Amino acid sequence: MTIQEVIEVTDELVDAWSRLLPQLSRSAPPLTRESLERIVSSEASTMLVARTDEGIVGSATMVLYEIPVGKKAWVEDVVVDESARGRGVGELLTRAVVERAQASGARSVNLTSSPDREAANRLYQRIGFAVRSTNVYRHSS
Ligand SMILES: CC(C)(COP(=O)(O)OP(=O)(O)OC[C@H]1O[C@@H](n2cnc3c(N)ncnc32)[C@H](O)[C@@H]1OP(=O)(O)O)[C@@H](O)C(=O)NCCC(=O)NCCS
Repeated sequence: MTIQEVIEVTDELVDAWSRLLPQLSRSAPPLTRESLERIVSSEASTMLVARTDEGIVGSATMVLYEIPVGKKAWVEDVVVDESARGRGVGELLTRAVVERAQASGARSVNLTSSPDREAANRLYQRIGFAVRSTNVYRHSS
């Protein structure tokens, strides 16, 4: 199993996301090739994929930006195909994002995860993420 940074959008990537996205969100609109192109060419986002002999089985995206207090990183959209779960793929992907964020000078690596995502919450805490007390707001207009 290898973790790779996506540098170009291929048919394989588009196909992988057509399988992975519904496992991540039931409400997200389909991820088009054009959207993937924007993500992959964005300076702020780094998409990683996990690859086995079966092809792409998971992904995680690092978002890194600079604000007055310093560089801040977020782990976003961690997902592993159902057929490959429970083998540490999610852990490797998340650790890879953390390593890249730290190597890029991020002062903190952050994520949010809904409490009903039990496997995800266990994974994050197992590898060193701690719950931080803050209010998370969403503007619902
Ligand atoms: C969360 C997720 C990425 C974890 O991926 P993964 O590759 O299974 O992760 P790991 O193997 O590192 O750990 C998964 C945990 O589930 C357990 N597990 C074992 N067999 C499993 C199986 N067949 N299916 C699911 N989980 C299993 C693992 O033992 C581990 O449990 P532990 O934390 O108590 O040790 C994956 O479950 C997923 O894609 N879920 C749907 C999307 C999601 O919730 N993403 C997170 C958004 S915040």
